[in-house]
Amino acid sequence: MLAAVTVRTRMIFIANPNNPTGTINRAEEVALLMERLPEGILTVVDEAYYEYVSNPDYADSMKWFRQGKDILILRTFSKIYGLAGLRIGYGIAKNAIITDLNKLRPPFNTNTISQVAALHGLRDADHIERSQKTNEEGKRYLYGEFQRLGLRYVPTEANFIYMPFDNSPVLYEKLLRMGIIVRPMGPDAIRVTIGLPEENRRFIEALKNVVQ
Ligand SMILES: Cc1ncc(COP(=O)(O)O)c(C=O)c1O
Repeated sequence: MLAAVTVRTRMIFIANPNNPTGTINRAEEVALLMERLPEGILTVVDEAYYEYVSNPDYADSMKWFRQGKDILILRTFSKIYGLAGLRIGYGIAKNAIITDLNKLRPPFNTNTISQVAALHGLRDADHIERSQKTNEEGKRYLYGEFQRLGLRYVPTEANFIYMPFDNSPVLYEKLLRMGIIVRPMGPDAIRVTIGLPEENRRFIEALKNVVQ
């Protein structure tokens, strides 16, 4: 990304964790970027899946915010909080950046009901913990089954797994007919969401039917 920066660059975006791979940028990678990026470029870090990350190498973007860098951290209530329909999230940045955002905010603002729900979400530590645990257990179960089936996957820090597959549209269609919806990612991969234990088991049963 540094190599792609020119005098015309004003803003760069990082999705961390990234969708659809579920991979993260490690602290040292982000440090390299933040320390070498020329002044006056805003770095937007999309942390939609932040709450799912368990890897200790995950970059702590708040560190750069605290150092006064031009960084805007974006989080959402759409993922672990389960409030996607309410269209609400939050941003963290220094005053000058938030002031600019506020100039554009009124016509796109969040609504009061969403804000109340989001505040309840922030206080519901049990829900977050339960979701993290369900996701971790689901992840371990799926990894184990993939290994048994000899299937490739990209280890994830989010609530979905990216799996390389030859001819993935065909796999997608077959799974669909069995009532399982995954997301085809071009011709050679799928992305599957980690579900509840029963959903994960159903997915594995369907997958066995297709790949064995
Ligand atoms: C990386 C990433 N950022 C943002 C979003 C969407 O967030 P929101 O529902 O808050 O617009 C998604 C998923 O839909 C995503 O994968």
